[in-house]
Amino acid sequence: MTPSSSEVDLMFMFTAIDLAENGRNTASPNPCVGCLYVRDGEVIGQGWHQWTGQGHAEVCALEDADRDVRGATAYVSLEPCAFEGRTPACAQLLIDHGVARVVIGAIDPHPRVSGQGVAMLRSAGIDVTVLDLEAAAALNPGYNARVRRGTPWVRLKVAASLDGRTAMASGESQWITGEAARADVQALRARSCAILTGVGTVLADDPSLTVRDTRFAVDGRLRQPRIVVADSHGRTPATAKIYRSEGGVQIERAEGGKVDLNALLARLAADGVNELLVEAGPTLIGACIEAQCWDEMVLYLAPKFLGASARPLADFDIVRMADAFGARITAFEMVGDDLKVTLARV
Ligand SMILES: NC(=O)c1ccc[n+]([C@@H]2O[C@H](COP(=O)([O-])OP(=O)(O)OC[C@H]3O[C@@H](n4cnc5c(N)ncnc54)[C@H](OP(=O)(O)O)[C@@H]3O)[C@@H](O)[C@H]2O)c1
Repeated sequence: MTPSSSEVDLMFMFTAIDLAENGRNTASPNPCVGCLYVRDGEVIGQGWHQWTGQGHAEVCALEDADRDVRGATAYVSLEPCAFEGRTPACAQLLIDHGVARVVIGAIDPHPRVSGQGVAMLRSAGIDVTVLDLEAAAALNPGYNARVRRGTPWVRLKVAASLDGRTAMASGESQWITGEAARADVQALRARSCAILTGVGTVLADDPSLTVRDTRFAVDGRLRQPRIVVADSHGRTPATAKIYRSEGGVQIERAEGGKVDLNALLARLAADGVNELLVEAGPTLIGACIEAQCWDEMVLYLAPKFLGASARPLADFDIVRMADAFGARITAFEMVGDDLKVTLARV
């Protein structure tokens, strides 16, 4: 059976979405975007946005095309930009190159685009289809959050025992989970613009919080996230390993109180942080949960017990069952011997 035109559109769009994934660890603060030019059912050029300041997906796909794209259909996972920034407007580029049709995965929430790319294309007589796909929007949770609400997408990462413990009372916590789970955390770090930790973790573990897995290297280099430490009184030692990271360190102080998490998130977003990974102990993880400033939790559950004197997952109190609150499990999978559970805030 010949696929319908809408099935063909979906098939090419999912290829564009796959291409966009290539920019997962490098495109920020820009979004990940993939693009294909198709003529007579044949892909004649494909590309994705790799680094901010370099070619947008539409431009890279054009460079890849071995011939003129006049009359072709462009499949773009995100609405083409409508304004000149570091690079010319992509909507104009598509017009100038005479594409006949543009199929868009998701509308760009950026106030300077947000439908204006579509309008520009349509007013030039180009046939535009907006598929409005969840999978296309889901490529960019961090970018969407930063642009729409002015805070990064906050992902809490916790490694816990079966009895929900995250460190021994002595502070010892390395390693609760196995090697495979720790390797999985490398992917979470690689995609993050910044990692937030607490001074308690820096003092107890002296972690390096870097991306070390060379699978995440692009153009021969590993992009390191910035390390942000909630450290009200500046107790981070000058010798801490985090200072060796190429991503840089930002110490957040708050004389006479605690770091204001909501204000910190707003500042990080203003500074271009799309995805923030929180790798901290129960005090800061608890503060994020209590203040409801998180979007997603990645919980690695190790099949072992650490006992009642070990530290909890989140340090805050609820007295009555009526005040308990939950989260929604969105995914689960085995990672080595550990269970990885992904949760969304409700
Ligand atoms: N299993 C895991 O996934 C995991 C991950 C990381 C760490 N850990 C373990 O966790 C233990 C450390 O936990 P922790 O609870 O002591 O340290 P933490 O949560 O990493 O850091 C807590 C500190 O952050 C500072 N802070 C600043 N602003 C804050 C705010 N708004 N809310 C909360 N805290 C704020 C506070 O110190 P100031 O008042 O001085 O600012 C606070 O004591 C270690 O044993 C470590 O091994 C486990």
